[in-house]
Amino acid sequence: MFEHLKAVPPDPILGILSAYAADPNPKKIDLGIGVYKNEAGATPMLECVVEAEKILIATQTSKSYLGPPGVVGFNSAMSDLLFGPDSDVLQQGRVRTIQTPGGTGGLRVAADLVKTAVPDAAIWASDPTWPNHMAIFPASGLPMHAYPYFDRLNSTLRFVEMMESLRQRGPGDVVLFHACCHNPCGVSPDQEQWEAITNLAAERGFTPMVDIAYMGFERGIEEDTLAVRLFSEKCPEVIVVSSCSKNFAVYRERTGAISIVCENDQKAADVQTVINSLTRKNYSMPPTHGPAIIDIILHSDELTKLWESEVTTMRNRINSLRKTLSEKIIASGISKDFSFLQRQSGMFSFLGLSVEQVHRLKNEFAIYTVDSARINVASFNDGNIEYFIDALSKVLED
Ligand SMILES: Cc1ncc(COP(=O)(O)O)c(C=O)c1O
Repeated sequence: MFEHLKAVPPDPILGILSAYAADPNPKKIDLGIGVYKNEAGATPMLECVVEAEKILIATQTSKSYLGPPGVVGFNSAMSDLLFGPDSDVLQQGRVRTIQTPGGTGGLRVAADLVKTAVPDAAIWASDPTWPNHMAIFPASGLPMHAYPYFDRLNSTLRFVEMMESLRQRGPGDVVLFHACCHNPCGVSPDQEQWEAITNLAAERGFTPMVDIAYMGFERGIEEDTLAVRLFSEKCPEVIVVSSCSKNFAVYRERTGAISIVCENDQKAADVQTVINSLTRKNYSMPPTHGPAIIDIILHSDELTKLWESEVTTMRNRINSLRKTLSEKIIASGISKDFSFLQRQSGMFSFLGLSVEQVHRLKNEFAIYTVDSARINVASFNDGNIEYFIDALSKVLED
């Protein structure tokens, strides 16, 4: 049966992980992997998670099945975070949030839902987008197309071209947006641009799908839900996929959700039954350890405050690293302009290097990143930033 199967090359990021691990150079830097790191280069558990996990272990009395929607308290807390507890959509009962195995699981459920609802629907994603988007939707049988997004020459948003492309979209098209901290380019629309995009969605009738994997890492927890809130105020139907991997640092606990906004309460209830039947034949029910922890955090004023302060610390560290990096590059005499690093947000940016320069960073300096030269800014710290800039100047010189 398996004789025709050929080995599949590893995901480029996973390939970097193993090459980095095997490299004996003490100065090595991993700029590839998409996890937050602190000044010590570690990805520790958040304190609020440690505290809530203790409570969970002390109080949980059963590991029996919970049912397809998972932890109900997590689902309602995520709805409140994403849409605002007083929002019209929540007050009118138009939203259902259902726990999924991470944001990736949520995207796959979203893909199955779209395929079930409109079998010949197409997904439109920004050029570029998170590479896994390009795999998840076709895996459910949905074709993918790109709309203009990132200007590689100027490291800015191609807003005019994006709007031109979106003006051609209509019912049956699903347009995927990154709510904040665009992965991989770090460029987001500003408030005025989000207003224009969401007005266009309402006017043209395409279905917005918002992927929010870095809530709190750009401007603030509530501020980063702007796109979710504007789309759901203006459009009859919206799909939102959220991940808690980064902002609660519960990566391996596979914690995420899909939220669907429907025209009315009855339709939302109907669509939830469709989602339950799709997940039943896939993973049956989602894992609950991470969501049960987050349920505890978000239903405790004290732990919620602690979480907010820990997210603020992560966001401030990323933003200050962006500033330091950009200023130190200028001070080093490198003539190429990297000031865009300061104007972008979240963990990711493109350095704008050639594949050859990326390979030189790896081979000559043990600095690892993907061929696209996407870097994770959170990988820098006081101990490695000068070494990186020195290596960067060398590969840019020759
Ligand atoms: C844009 C985007 N969406 C979704 C995810 C999914 O994250 P997870 O499945 O780990 O929750 C990621 C993770 O890197 C991401 O960058």
